Amino acid sequence: SFDGVSAIWLFGYGSLIYKVDFPFLEQRPATIRGWQRRFWQGSHDHRGTPDAPGRVVTLVEQPDAVCKGMAYRVSPSVFEHLDVREKNGYLRFTTRLTFDDGCHGDGVVYIATEDNEAFLGHAPDQDIARQIAGAAGPSGPNSEYLLRLADSLRQLGTECAHTFAIERHLKTALLDGD
Ligand code: BEZ
Repeated sequence: SFDGVSAIWLFGYGSLIYKVDFPFLEQRPATIRGWQRRFWQGSHDHRGTPDAPGRVVTLVEQPDAVCKGMAYRVSPSVFEHLDVREKNGYLRFTTRLTFDDGCHGDGVVYIATEDNEAFLGHAPDQDIARQIAGAAGPSGPNSEYLLRLADSLRQLGTECAHTFAIERHLKTALLDGD
């Protein structure tokens, strides 16, 4: 079994915060600087279909922005598994993590950049919420993804105005059945 000597931090800011289907040695809330979470990546294979793609989060560069997520100390072999799970246009890079106690580490982050085929980019919050309300895929309803992420962010004690605004619109859309 894995001795931990070559363990690497993996930083999750989306579904990796709440859906952990890989082994890890340790888990710690952490932040990264210079990136913000946005529902700008299309999902036609997890939370939508080619005809009705869903929307999932990626990170976009924003100087001084701070993004809170969950860091997992994992064996390098975990990345082989994740590279398959996150096949839809994501790439990975290494960045500085700050833990809640002020300590630092380097961690691997997956992002979907605007040059990938499934990238959708900016849209009004209400339009994003409607798209999410009407999408579902093999991993489940897109609305479940949004609601679980929003709840996880509240549990982490972090403010993400973008996610919470879309959540508010989604709840209205679900009530109105529109
Ligand atoms: C994340 O939670 O960090 C994540 C999940 C899926 C794809 C890319 C990133």
